[in-house]
Amino acid sequence: MTPEEKKQQVAKAALKYVEPNTVIGVGTGSTANCFIDELAKLKFQIEGAVASSQATADRLKSHGIPVLNLNGVGELSVYVDGADEANHHLQLIKGGGGALTREKIVAAASAKFVCIADESKLVEQLGTKFYLPVEVIPMARSFVARQIVKLGGNPMWRENFITDNGNMILDVYNLNIIEPLKLETAINSIVGVVENGLFAHRHADVLLLGTDNGVKELM
Ligand code: 5RP
Repeated sequence: MTPEEKKQQVAKAALKYVEPNTVIGVGTGSTANCFIDELAKLKFQIEGAVASSQATADRLKSHGIPVLNLNGVGELSVYVDGADEANHHLQLIKGGGGALTREKIVAAASAKFVCIADESKLVEQLGTKFYLPVEVIPMARSFVARQIVKLGGNPMWRENFITDNGNMILDVYNLNIIEPLKLETAINSIVGVVENGLFAHRHADVLLLGTDNGVKELM
């Protein structure tokens, strides 16, 4: 099975968590895109979706799915999104697409977080295969980078990239992420950091992994 087929497999499997007449949250990236395409085929109606990025909003709209403002709705029934890495506690690294801040907001506002990914994203320790994206206020970029070096990381500026919020991204390599909860809090305590891509406090509730032998569900 190709990586693309595995993404389609988990995108389909996530539909069982979507309830009629509710507002859901939708993530960003190639796996989330597969989910949006499946959502468009649903036989029943959802009230609408809150998008975690402009790209996702555009794709939802292209399918005629109403895109709603988070400020105008209550708790979302479910949030479906991909990840760059996941561990067995369903803690994640996200932000490869640079949408981590809005993704974390929409995840926090959702009753359930269903993460969809192919099995290659499952790791023993976060940060072993993927870097950690950190969104920063542009004027604080160098200052934040120096503070991250003190935490043992090697930050690289993602050049020619501006987030939907008008900020910059530092991709941090070589972090030894033994305690994801503590590191998430520590990085977010640096002045100038908007958000970091560790989803340890608000981890996924369900992880659907695409494998050659079908979808594996971890809870
Ligand atoms: C975007 C994200 C994505 O969920 C993450 O990068 C995974 O993307 P893909 O499904 O394309 O592998 O966090 O900010």
